[in-house]
Amino acid sequence: MADQDIKQIVKDKYGKAALKVVAESEASCCSTSACCGTDAAADPITSNLYTVGETASLPAEAVAASLGCGNPIAVAELHPGERVLDLGSGGGIDVLLSARRVGPTGKVYGLDMTDEMLALARENQRKAGADNVEFLKGEIEAIPLPDNSVDVIISNCVINLSGDKDRVLREAFRVLRPGGRFAVSDVVTRGEIPDALRRDVLLWVGCIAGALEDEEYRAKLAAAGFEAIGIEPTRVYRVDDAREFLTHKGIDVDAIAKSIDGKFMSAFVRARKPQAGERACCS
Ligand SMILES: C[S@@+](CC[C@H](N)C(=O)[O-])C[C@H]1O[C@@H](n2cnc3c(N)ncnc32)[C@H](O)[C@@H]1O
Repeated sequence: MADQDIKQIVKDKYGKAALKVVAESEASCCSTSACCGTDAAADPITSNLYTVGETASLPAEAVAASLGCGNPIAVAELHPGERVLDLGSGGGIDVLLSARRVGPTGKVYGLDMTDEMLALARENQRKAGADNVEFLKGEIEAIPLPDNSVDVIISNCVINLSGDKDRVLREAFRVLRPGGRFAVSDVVTRGEIPDALRRDVLLWVGCIAGALEDEEYRAKLAAAGFEAIGIEPTRVYRVDDAREFLTHKGIDVDAIAKSIDGKFMSAFVRARKPQAGERACCS
């Protein structure tokens, strides 16, 4: 599928998701963060990613719009004063959580290409009173920030949506300062999976542009210039998670269970841009 077609499908999907959160909020379901009834509530991929302590004081609509597959903030080790960029910031949940960690001397950018998500994120920023936050409109394949301008890149289940992952990783490398960290949650696959089944399961996960196999992810990060590369599974999907979706597609799930079970996962992907003068040698 052409890159522009993928982008249009992604924009339509997440534009609708943002409008749904707004509509449910206006129907006054979301007076507290605990009651929002989005599809994400029972979703094995997007549900229960954050602790109650993390979400308790966020705007309910930021929590309701959470569509990630991990919690990059839990492992990104953010420090006061750091500049953070969230690739594909959606309704802004990870931006707002990061903003607390980096404090008033830090700054967090959220980058997203979908107007409805940006509008929702900016409204969530206003409700949270987060002054150290800026939401930018743009594409993760062409980040609208200068070279060497951020300390940390986070992202939550977005790089798998890109049709040009090499370009995304090169752009991430460009905007990170030397020594800067890449700390991303994403969907990855492990081991041999027949092509057709791979496509079907990735559709269930929502990875319209396909997820990378973990060794391929490492190779692409290294090719972009990163070092200290690590991929750590955070949630491994079982065949039963996707049973209903696959059965609906006419697939005999029991017959193919061995080929897919445990081979799709959410993972925490980390890497570092070498310090100036250092060469990336070992991942
Ligand atoms: C799965 S949602 C994740 C949102 C957010 N990170 C979270 O955890 O809730 C994907 C988000 O990335 C945005 N997105 C997808 N592809 C993008 C691209 N190529 N450039 C910029 N934004 C993109 C979508 O508009 C959407 O808001």
